[in-house]
Amino acid sequence: MKHQKDGAKIISSLKAFLHQRIEDISFTDNMYYDEDFFAKSIENNFAGWYDADALKQQIGFILQHCKVTPNSKVLDAACGHGRHAELLCRRGHEVLATDISDQLITHLTEKYGDKRLLFEKRTFMEINYSQIFDLAIVLANSLGLIPRDEFVIVLNKLSRSLKKDGWLFVELDNRPHFVRNEAGKRSWSYHADRWLVLSEHHYDSENRLEKTVDISVDFADMSVNQFLLTKSLYDYNELCNLLASANFIVRKSFGDWEGNEISEASPSLLIAAQNRL
Ligand SMILES: C[S@@+](CC[C@H](N)C(=O)[O-])C[C@H]1O[C@@H](n2cnc3c(N)ncnc32)[C@H](O)[C@@H]1O
Repeated sequence: MKHQKDGAKIISSLKAFLHQRIEDISFTDNMYYDEDFFAKSIENNFAGWYDADALKQQIGFILQHCKVTPNSKVLDAACGHGRHAELLCRRGHEVLATDISDQLITHLTEKYGDKRLLFEKRTFMEINYSQIFDLAIVLANSLGLIPRDEFVIVLNKLSRSLKKDGWLFVELDNRPHFVRNEAGKRSWSYHADRWLVLSEHHYDSENRLEKTVDISVDFADMSVNQFLLTKSLYDYNELCNLLASANFIVRKSFGDWEGNEISEASPSLLIAAQNRL
């Protein structure tokens, strides 16, 4: 009986969401990021993101292309659940991992905190270290979560935080891929045996933004929630120009973690750049 009631509740909430048109949803500037969004997912620990083999491959890939020595100092900016930070520390590096979310930082400090793996609550705009790091990583499109006009400011902050010739490794979504393959589409996903998410992606061509609506059914409490997220999208040339204007020389670029060349069909922009300052 309870299931029937829950089912009816979910269906009526879903119907309400599904019948709205994305044009009628008002995205405002602050849709860039809701500080609690990732913190809320502490429990599910980003389940789908913890494919141990894929993670190991990503770290191997970064270390292969950014020529850092053992025992290097690494900054993981917007570290999320610390999956890369933790592995880099296990590989012998000294890691400082930062994120906007207080809750995440507290959780990570309790879980992994160590003198060689520190966590600090710090937004991108608050990154102001002085030539400390050999390598900075910013992964999983985290730089897409900040407004376009903050992008170069943040790159300059990363440049000043790196030693001369230090490495920056970034992973961003590739705009042409999004426009061709995702814009205007809906997709379903299921996470951690708990969340059923229906996503709808739109492209705002005037501002080169992704606007995504996620409708999430949480089977733990049968609630239906809507999340709106805006992401700035870049293409390869634009990214290279922005990096150059912030003192970086692009050394290597790839369109995916397999190491394929970047093309319009590549899902990602993976760039290893060196700091000239
Ligand atoms: C897509 S997750 C990626 C996390 C991590 N890099 C990974 O690959 O697992 C994006 C992260 O960016 C953080 N974030 C969003 N806006 C931020 C900002 N303005 N400054 C610092 N971190 C931010 C979020 O809290 C979240 O943990």
